[in-house]
Amino acid sequence: MLKVAGLKAGYGRTQVLFGIDLEVRAGEIVTIIGANGAGKTSTLRSISGLTQIYAGEIEFKGRPIKGLPPEEITRLGLAHCPEGRQILQRLTVEENLLAGYIPGRGRSFDEIRTQVYDLFPILRERRHSLASRMSGGQQQMLAIGRSLMATPDLLMLDEPSLGLAPKIINQIFEIIIMLSKSGISLIVVEQNAAVALEIADYAYVIDAGRCSVEGGAHNVLNDPDLKAAYLGA
Ligand SMILES: Nc1ncnc2c1ncn2[C@@H]1O[C@H](COP(=O)(O)OP(=O)(O)O)[C@@H](O)[C@H]1O
Ligand SMILES: [Mg+2]
Repeated sequence: MLKVAGLKAGYGRTQVLFGIDLEVRAGEIVTIIGANGAGKTSTLRSISGLTQIYAGEIEFKGRPIKGLPPEEITRLGLAHCPEGRQILQRLTVEENLLAGYIPGRGRSFDEIRTQVYDLFPILRERRHSLASRMSGGQQQMLAIGRSLMATPDLLMLDEPSLGLAPKIINQIFEIIIMLSKSGISLIVVEQNAAVALEIADYAYVIDAGRCSVEGGAHNVLNDPDLKAAYLGA
């Protein structure tokens, strides 16, 4: 589904990724974990066409996507739910969903909106509320809902649990599992490594702009050395 090879990227003259290799197979949940500042967000932003790429290849559904504009990448079926949610605070819930809708992916706005509201009943209930009036957890649901409006084949979630209470985090992860069961492939970036490793199939640990470790999520979860080094356990 997605292959990243030898990715080097950064911001102007500041290189922050020094050779990232990763792969997502169709139907998988892949997690990317690592310390703050390791390069997780930059990796997702590179895949989405939002950073400057110096070297490497990115292939999505068998097609090179490096250098394509972000909208074009989304249109191909790759959606990115950014860190910090980035929803439009002054717009209503429904207007935010409309902003995420990508025409020409075979389904109407109404059709996908109904699916998103079925997945997140609270968004239906509050569809005319301003996004700014929603709680952190509801805003995260809205951010995920907006990404789903693009009908993604692969959805990348950047820190979906950030700043949320444990109970809400569980709800969000339940949703991620449901999305996976519905056939969407996922990349979940998390500082909350333990939770992400519980639900993921495969894991990459990024350290200072490089993939330092990769493996089956349960192997990474249960490796005591990795726990000590990366999971803060
Ligand atoms: N817009 C930017 N301009 C310059 N440097 C940035 C920018 N965004 C992130 N960085 C730097 O890139 C590195 C990786 O950051 P980031 O990808 O956000 O890490 P993570 O998501 O793992 O916390 C950090 O050193 C960070 O300071
Ligand atoms: Mg980040």
